[in-house]
Amino acid sequence: MSESAARRLFFALWPDEAVRQALWKATRSCVKASGGRPVPRENLHLTLAFLGNVPQGLLPELRAAAARLSLPGFRFVLDSAGYWPRPRVAWVAPSRVPRQLPELVAALWRVLEGLPVQADTRPYRPHLTVARKVSRPGELALERSVDWPVSEFCLVQSVTDPTGARYELLARYHLLQPTGNGNADANSAQPE
Ligand code: 2AM
Repeated sequence: MSESAARRLFFALWPDEAVRQALWKATRSCVKASGGRPVPRENLHLTLAFLGNVPQGLLPELRAAAARLSLPGFRFVLDSAGYWPRPRVAWVAPSRVPRQLPELVAALWRVLEGLPVQADTRPYRPHLTVARKVSRPGELALERSVDWPVSEFCLVQSVTDPTGARYELLARYHLLQPTGNGNADANSAQPE
């Protein structure tokens, strides 16, 4: 790929295998009921910041910017499901969003300031898309809630294949150990 070639990039929370499994189980009946096209199991994620098409040459700066973050891990519970009519997607989300989540998103955009990436102007609504082209939105409900302890976030590339989107993890960034009072310890977030 040449220096000027663009990559479609975003930062995301990427479920570990245990969360992915729980999420998959908890959403099967709701996805089926929606009549939509299920998001493949390996693609399930929660977007933090969508960067769009970014020149390949900007990758080192992006990675370095994200590595400057020093924020605590947190946890949340995916317990609600719903439907957005315009993109026709079914999603799951936490009904209670811990403050650390929007804080992580805001901090990401802050460290990206000055780089040629465009922040989304829409309000941030944390969600995982579980089905597209939904035909029967009706009453969507999770079979059971899913606990998600978050200890890292990822830089991800979206590749569009003839069969649909495929995601490649480009970097993982550890968050700090959460402490009892919700404050972070003294370590820095480090890319892997
Ligand atoms: P979605 O799941 O709600 O479609 C990769 O495409 C990820 O980036 C997906 O999680 C997708 O959200 C999100 N995404 C795609 N286009 C976007 C846009 N223009 N603004 C914000 N997020 C976007």
